[in-house]
Amino acid sequence: MGVRGETAPRLLAELADAYAVSGSDLAERLGVSRAAVWKQIERLRQLGLPIAAQAGSGYRLQAPLDRLDAGQIAALSTPVLRHRLGSLDVQWQVDSTSSELLRRAGADPRDLLVCLAEVQSAGRGRRGRSWQMPLTGGIALSLLKRFDAGMAPLAGLSLVVGIAAAQALEDCGIPAVGLKWPNDIVVDARKLGGILVELGGDAIGPCHAVIGIGLNFRIDAAAGAVIGQPWTDLTRLAGSKAPTRNQIVARLLARLIDALDRFCIDGFGPFVDEFARRDALLDRPVRVLRGDATLDGIARGVDARGGLRVAFADGERSIDSGEVSVRARR
Ligand code: BTN
Repeated sequence: MGVRGETAPRLLAELADAYAVSGSDLAERLGVSRAAVWKQIERLRQLGLPIAAQAGSGYRLQAPLDRLDAGQIAALSTPVLRHRLGSLDVQWQVDSTSSELLRRAGADPRDLLVCLAEVQSAGRGRRGRSWQMPLTGGIALSLLKRFDAGMAPLAGLSLVVGIAAAQALEDCGIPAVGLKWPNDIVVDARKLGGILVELGGDAIGPCHAVIGIGLNFRIDAAAGAVIGQPWTDLTRLAGSKAPTRNQIVARLLARLIDALDRFCIDGFGPFVDEFARRDALLDRPVRVLRGDATLDGIARGVDARGGLRVAFADGERSIDSGEVSVRARR
């Protein structure tokens, strides 16, 4: 499902700036036919943006529009953070913000490249799943971070990112954010977001991680139905005090870069206790899926490398996020 040309974002801007606006006014402002306006309205609806059409007054957004804006994100960040970011791009549409940074990794040598997009046409989740979000109903953020000493020390990175994301959300007034090993951000056992870490470069030398974070911001029932597990979103959790997406992104970047700095120096060890405070699987029965084999046990927290400790019938072992999938059992 694509958005052709630049009409859609301009249309969105026009809708955001007015209480309601007629098709003919939109056509005039955008320099296109009324039929083209109607077609683009349909495209925005297909992308998940609720737009009401009222006889007499025209088209109207059903919720206030909260557009991602690089300038606002920068203004909400400290000068030090602004200085450290290699780039901060907000795109209208991309296949996947993480794919975009993976493509740029070889060509752009800077550290801390950030890419956000309103629309991901091929957003990716873990284990080959897709990641979809309605237009303006989520946050899709990827950050490229460079490392010097190979990939082995990066085992706990996804958990560090989860901790930083949870702290950022709590900074924004979302209470009791938990983490479900290795990559889910949860509140009350409902998925609020997910993390996808992809590594590239030299396995034993200079390498990079593209850290992808997807957050549910405002999800309606139709979008929620494809998530495939209990979910929640920031608007529900924050109620009338919901932060803007730009505020959330600014806090995410601040917490993330601070956590990455600490992780580069000290590794995962100092994060073990913080993860334990947020561990949604702690002492829960889990099923570990490795290929066709399943093994049941009790989750016992994480070890100093970020592996999940599981007590099986024949003893406790740590498992790696790359090798298995873990499901909580009832
Ligand atoms: C998961 O829970 O499976 C991880 C989801 C990660 C989604 C984010 S959205 C930004 C970035 N771009 C992608 O294509 N995926 C990640």
